[in-house]
Amino acid sequence: MSQHKTWGGRFSGETDNRVEAFTESISFDRRLYRHDILASQAHARMLAEVGLLVQEETDQIVAALGDIAGRIERGEFEYSIQLEDIHTHVERALIDQLGDVGRKLHTGRSRNDQIVTDVKLWTRDALDDITGKLLDLQNALVDMADRSRDVILPGYTHLQRAQPVLAAHYLLAYVEKTQRDRDRLSDTRRRINVLPLGAAALAGTSLPINRDSVARQLGFDSVAANSLDVSSDRDFLIEFVFDLSLIALHLAGWAEEWILWSTTEFNFLELPDAFCTGSSIMPHKKNPDVLELIRGKSARVVGDLQRLLVLIKGLPLAYNRDLQEDKEALFDAVDTVSLSLELAAGLIRTTKFRRDVIAARLEDGYLDATTFMEFLVKEGVPLRSAHEAVGKLVKECEERQCRLADLPKESFEAIRAGLAAKVHQVLGVKNALAAFQSYGSTAPAEVERQMAFWRERLERR
Ligand code: ARG
Repeated sequence: MSQHKTWGGRFSGETDNRVEAFTESISFDRRLYRHDILASQAHARMLAEVGLLVQEETDQIVAALGDIAGRIERGEFEYSIQLEDIHTHVERALIDQLGDVGRKLHTGRSRNDQIVTDVKLWTRDALDDITGKLLDLQNALVDMADRSRDVILPGYTHLQRAQPVLAAHYLLAYVEKTQRDRDRLSDTRRRINVLPLGAAALAGTSLPINRDSVARQLGFDSVAANSLDVSSDRDFLIEFVFDLSLIALHLAGWAEEWILWSTTEFNFLELPDAFCTGSSIMPHKKNPDVLELIRGKSARVVGDLQRLLVLIKGLPLAYNRDLQEDKEALFDAVDTVSLSLELAAGLIRTTKFRRDVIAARLEDGYLDATTFMEFLVKEGVPLRSAHEAVGKLVKECEERQCRLADLPKESFEAIRAGLAAKVHQVLGVKNALAAFQSYGSTAPAEVERQMAFWRERLERR
């Protein structure tokens, strides 16, 4: 009865159906069908090149695999847990169609090198897709920076008002983070793009296969050098999910910021209706659910990473069935980050700064205090003395409930004679902002330079 299984030969009893349900992977690895078929077509072409198949057989196999892909895409393909996984389904369908010719496809390979090849091909596509979405996010950020050139924001540390920053500078900070996310992905891609197929079960094969041909056909840069290593290797996948985790965490931090900024208390942002939802009981509510879920779903991705790390703990060489458990975590992390990125870009494209609200409160919180201190340093006051003097002025402001610029002349003259006449060049948030000059700072000219840099950089993708 186990005869319909590809490995049925050495079995005489039937498989317990709980075992079939427990060991199947078709319910989730069917997502790999396209890559499984591409890899099989490349393998079949190679088998003809080395004389293990005749060309006519390869042609039949390649065509029949194309038919099977079409049936799967049209939803005309039947799945059953008795056939375990995607590899067995495709091979069974091929044998049903071609008989003995179909029975030759699995020559010189194993499902162990086949699955990791499929997963690498799938992951490579997913990685390229995520990279495109990161680029789109960067463009959305640069566009918003462009639209908000005139906006000055309070910059925070410890979520306390610290120093003024241009909104464009704030947005470009996320462009930088996103660029590192992209760089990490392209580095990971190099390790993905090494062909596993040909490792066979674990030791390679005694048949005269040509792995370089398969690598070339499938666009791999090189061929894995050790069959034991590669059939057990999931490092590339864990690394990719780590990259995704960091993307998810970058998005979560940004989402948290925008959730705060859209509260009545901050009121810096006007979120678009299309990305908000209401309350079933409170008629006035407009909730930032998308941002909250971008923040919340980052937990899934970090969980997926944890799951994969624990999965490989203590696994001996080479293939172990445990590895089948890698795919759902991978798919979940990709799906989650992919949607989060799309929605983040959508939100950034349609959200507006509430310029009036931001400007009305910009003079609160002594955003000019540090630049004023630096002005004193330029006037020859030692930094520590300047720090203390400005600290005292702030205390005086707290008592008088005023801004630094509103203090009486005597307060400045007490620090150094002649100062009162000059302070008005540097006090006030606009003056403070204009005073910045270091590389990488929020100095308007620096930010303009960075904007131009990113425009040009992102053109090149
Ligand atoms: N479904 C398996 C996986 O995802 C494919 C490889 C199975 N190999 C085996 N010898 N049972 O890892």
